[in-house]
Amino acid sequence: MIQRQILSNRLKSDVTVTSPGRINMIGEHTDYNGGYVLPAAIDKTITLKLGKNDSEKSCKVYSMEYADMFEFELDCIERTHTGWKNYVLGVLHEMLQRTGKLRGFDCTIESHIPIGSGMSSSAALECGLAFGLNELFDLGLSKWEIIKLSQKAEHDFVGTKCGIMDQFASVMGKMNHVMLLDCMTLDFDYIPMDLAPYRILLLNTNVAHNLASSEYNDRRAQCEKGLAILQEHFGRDISLRDVTPSMLVQCKETMGKTIYNRCRYVIEENSRVLRAVKALKEKDIVQFGSLLYETHLGLSQKYEVSCPELDFLVDFSKERKEVLGARMMGGGFGGCTLNIIHEDAITDFTEDIGKAYESTFSRKLDYYQTLPSKGTVALKDKTD
Ligand code: GLA
Repeated sequence: MIQRQILSNRLKSDVTVTSPGRINMIGEHTDYNGGYVLPAAIDKTITLKLGKNDSEKSCKVYSMEYADMFEFELDCIERTHTGWKNYVLGVLHEMLQRTGKLRGFDCTIESHIPIGSGMSSSAALECGLAFGLNELFDLGLSKWEIIKLSQKAEHDFVGTKCGIMDQFASVMGKMNHVMLLDCMTLDFDYIPMDLAPYRILLLNTNVAHNLASSEYNDRRAQCEKGLAILQEHFGRDISLRDVTPSMLVQCKETMGKTIYNRCRYVIEENSRVLRAVKALKEKDIVQFGSLLYETHLGLSQKYEVSCPELDFLVDFSKERKEVLGARMMGGGFGGCTLNIIHEDAITDFTEDIGKAYESTFSRKLDYYQTLPSKGTVALKDKTD
């Protein structure tokens, strides 16, 4: 610990960035299908401290979590075999294509977002770094440019063909609000979220989503195939969100069962997001919660991105009347469930579900309460 502190203290800092993880209330696997999502930034964040080091191109990035110092030159940016380094390199690769103003810098990263939990620590890191460098070198990039370049970094350097939701939520978050994002037009609305006396509780399976990247890209490819078949039938300019269940049925035979189920899930999920927003605006938390249970069923049975641990947690929640809704969150195959639970029940519930989970899977269950919070912020450090 002392060693870590000494290493990171040696790196000079001019800008401090706080970059949040995200939750997604509803609208899973819809972003890369041109659909709707309802995420929020959260109060779990990554802090990055960045400083110019007066060199032309030498960089040092220190991860406190991995106690790992990474040194590289700006004119030699190539993929590595280490996950977190690829997020850093991917962002730099994208930024270097957009500006000639980057110079050598030092950066210390300290994360308070549990890795692999589905709270998108990766988007927080990408966007935080891009935000910080933008501020440090006065690059003049807009928030949307930062969001898009961070997504592209993940596509090209990490290999996950992710949608725009995570990077968007991390950058654009607003205290006590969720955001309805139309992933086709990129229009969005802030919607106040007041669930009182209910709270958002995340239960972390501690199952790291190993398969997630290849399975994720497979799901995306399956939906694209389904859409191509639909477009053959109904015209080039339709998207999955324009497709009704009866249009889909007409293409069922050509698609085959798997692709049909994937598309069916996406169509139903888009409609659920819009119904959930209506419920939220009308303060109908019971209806909002029951839509979360429906989403989980769809993700588990039609989209097939759940796992036994996630299904177990959602089934357990369903038995408790103080939980109005629960579902897996994020890409799937592990990570967290999101639960809407009465504030008076949290202590008993977490104790019961923790015991049941641990005795079934011999694995620890972690839990966190969270709130919609503000997006990425960069502040120039005071010099004395
Ligand atoms: C991951 C991706 C997002 C989104 C979700 C599923 O978090 O990064 O773009 O597709 O999975 O909704």
